[in-house]
Order: sequence, then C-alpha cells, then structure tokens
Amino acid sequence: MAIIIDGKALAVKCKEEVRTAVDAMARKPGLAVILVGENPASQVYVRNKQKDCQECGIHSEEFVLPADYGQPALLTLIAELNQREDIDGILCQLPLPEGYGYDEEAVLLAIDPSKDVDAFHPYNVGKIMIGDPSFLPCTPAGVMKMLDEYHIDVDGKHCVVVGRSNIVGKPMAMLLLHRNGTVTVCHSHTPDLAAVTRQADILVSAVGKRNTITADMVKEGAVVIDVAMNRNEQGKLCGDVDFAEVEKIASYITPVPGGCGPMTRAILMENTLHAAVAHGK
Ligand code: GUN
Repeated sequence: MAIIIDGKALAVKCKEEVRTAVDAMARKPGLAVILVGENPASQVYVRNKQKDCQECGIHSEEFVLPADYGQPALLTLIAELNQREDIDGILCQLPLPEGYGYDEEAVLLAIDPSKDVDAFHPYNVGKIMIGDPSFLPCTPAGVMKMLDEYHIDVDGKHCVVVGRSNIVGKPMAMLLLHRNGTVTVCHSHTPDLAAVTRQADILVSAVGKRNTITADMVKEGAVVIDVAMNRNEQGKLCGDVDFAEVEKIASYITPVPGGCGPMTRAILMENTLHAAVAHGK
C-alpha cells in the first residue's frame, strides 16, 4: 500500500512558518482577492484564502463583484490596487464569468508583476520558464514541496504530467524539468495515454475529470500526485485518480481532499510574504 502524502499537515507547517515571519514584520503583508461573479467553486476557494490569511497574520481584502462588473471597471480596480502600498499581492480568481466580455489575458497583464502572487503574469511565467522565478506557481510549487518533504528525488526520473493548463500542467512540467526530471506532458490529443502514464516514475494528473487515472495506467511503485478537485455522483470531493485501486500499486499518493489543495493555498501565503519582503516590509 502506498504512503499517503499528507498535504494538509504540511500546509499547516508552511503556514506556521509564514506566521512566524509575519509576526516579526513591522508592516503586515496585504493580499487583495478579486472574485467576479458567483462561481460556487471560486467562492469556496476565496473563502479558504481569507481563512489562510487570518491564520498567517496577513491582511486580506476581498472584492466580491457582480458578474456584470465589466472589464474596464475591473482594470481600474487592479490599477488602484497596483498603486496601494498596503497591498502586496493581487489575485483575481479565475475563471472570469463568460458572456460579459472579460479578457482574462488582459486582466493578468494588468496586475503589477511584483504583486502577482499567482505567478500568472507573462513576465513571471517567463521567469519560471528560464528557471529564475520571482514567484513560484502555487499548485506546482506545492507539489514540489510535498515531494521534498517525503524525500522523493526527481533527478533522472520520468515525470509524466497529464494536463497542459497554464495554471498547473505547463508550470508543473517546468519545475520538474528544473529538478532534472525527464518530463512528458500528455493532454487530450495524446493517443494512448495509458502507454505513457505506465512509464511514469512520478505521475501528476491535472485534468479535472474523475477516473482519468486508473490502476492499469500506473507502474508498480510510482509516485502519484492528484492535483484535481472533482465531485463524484454523491457530490463528494474526488480527484482524477481512482484512489482506492491506485493506492495498492503506488509507492506514494496524494489524497483528495487533503493533498494538493491545502498546499496550493500555503504557497499563496508564502508568495504574499515574499512579495511583502520584496516591497521592503
Ligand atoms: N482558479 C483555479 N485555480 C486558481 C488559482 O490558483 N488562482 C486563481 N487566481 N484562480 C484560480
């Protein structure tokens, strides 16, 4: 049976470290979280982020805006937050509502790169690409921290990432590559997914569809990281991986919930702290 990677416990530890650093600061870090519209999953994420800020002693401000707030007003708000000295991090929860003319790319470009705690601005994406990051991408960095905590070495391993999103798949591949993993990225056009995933020493799934990874797709002793957050027919949270069957084969596995989710949020707190330090607080 696989060892279950306890992301929840590690996140508590990371946030305690942030708290200790924040307590020693003369001026507290500040995070602005923007939520446009009423996507239920986004509402949960934003509530959790606020809770994390409280735990870490970080000042948080929420901007909960109606779906029809509009792109120009949103850009004006971001411009104001860029100017504010008490705000070190700006996060605009994605996805933006459809049908109101929002341009996500323009929104991400508008955020001052020094406040881009999601690391979604093309400047920060580029820095990650060349291996000189200012901010680490939250979910992939959370994964790397879990691998480190469990002394799972990436060097020389075949790492298979399933999913090529800008938020997870692509930056995940970069972080693994920078640790000397041999990285394969699979996606919806990969003809024989199982043939590739079976080669993985470290398998990261970030698709958002349950049972994407079944036991027959996993090599004996592989490390399996499940980034997804889905719901099954009963409405219970689950990932991409058939956990019950895959845990019998893998050496390490992350649970959903309690794996990547808490770690993503912990890295956001670390990034906000780093932004504040970079801003001279
Ligand atoms: N939507 C899903 N994940 C994220 C995230 O990490 N940051 C933001 N801003 N939006 C998201």
